[in-house]
Amino acid sequence: MTQLDEIAAGLYRINTATEGGFSFNQYLIKDEKNTLVHTGSVPQFSGIVEKLSRVINPSDLTYVFVSHFESDECGALGEFLKLNPGITALCSAVTARQLTGFGIPAKVEVVKPGDGLSIGRRELRFISYPSEMHLWEGLLAYESKDKVLFSSDLFVVRGSEDPPVRKVRAAEALTITPRSIPADDARRKCEAEIRALDIALVAVGHGPVLDLRP
Ligand SMILES: [Fe+2]
Ligand SMILES: [Fe+2]
Repeated sequence: MTQLDEIAAGLYRINTATEGGFSFNQYLIKDEKNTLVHTGSVPQFSGIVEKLSRVINPSDLTYVFVSHFESDECGALGEFLKLNPGITALCSAVTARQLTGFGIPAKVEVVKPGDGLSIGRRELRFISYPSEMHLWEGLLAYESKDKVLFSSDLFVVRGSEDPPVRKVRAAEALTITPRSIPADDARRKCEAEIRALDIALVAVGHGPVLDLRP
């Protein structure tokens, strides 16, 4: 079952729960350049696009942000391109290589850690996230106006019965486990970068959005 929730003004979470108690999120940032964070997989596509279409016409999507090359982050990109061939995928150089190698005909804008991108009222900033195979560089995105970190597969919460947003304390929420990033140096560096940000909401890839506001 796929659910749609507006978790902040103009920020929507699309959530699909599986029977095993795991759930998959995509986020729509509604702005001058509408941006979808992750596509979900092909089997989830019809449910996702039905919810997305309640907020915008898919042909009005400018960007799809792809944190890394995996089915839930970009599996349905080809399906979105059938509806809107003008979509630009925002991703790292490594991810771009995967998209090309798998013949996914997306326009790609390669972004680097530290880059900023205006999408209208908001700006996205990109953070290195060693998530690709061999811990190559994928990306996280931070939206500075509403202070939202799109954390992809970091800080995943299992279980699908939760409300869309859960209040947590920053200290416990922002710890990266070795399971997420096994290499010690890479994990410490990524965690330090995240902890240096002013974060209100952590828009996780799986589970409820984490609300860090006191
Ligand atoms: Fe992933
Ligand atoms: Fe994921």
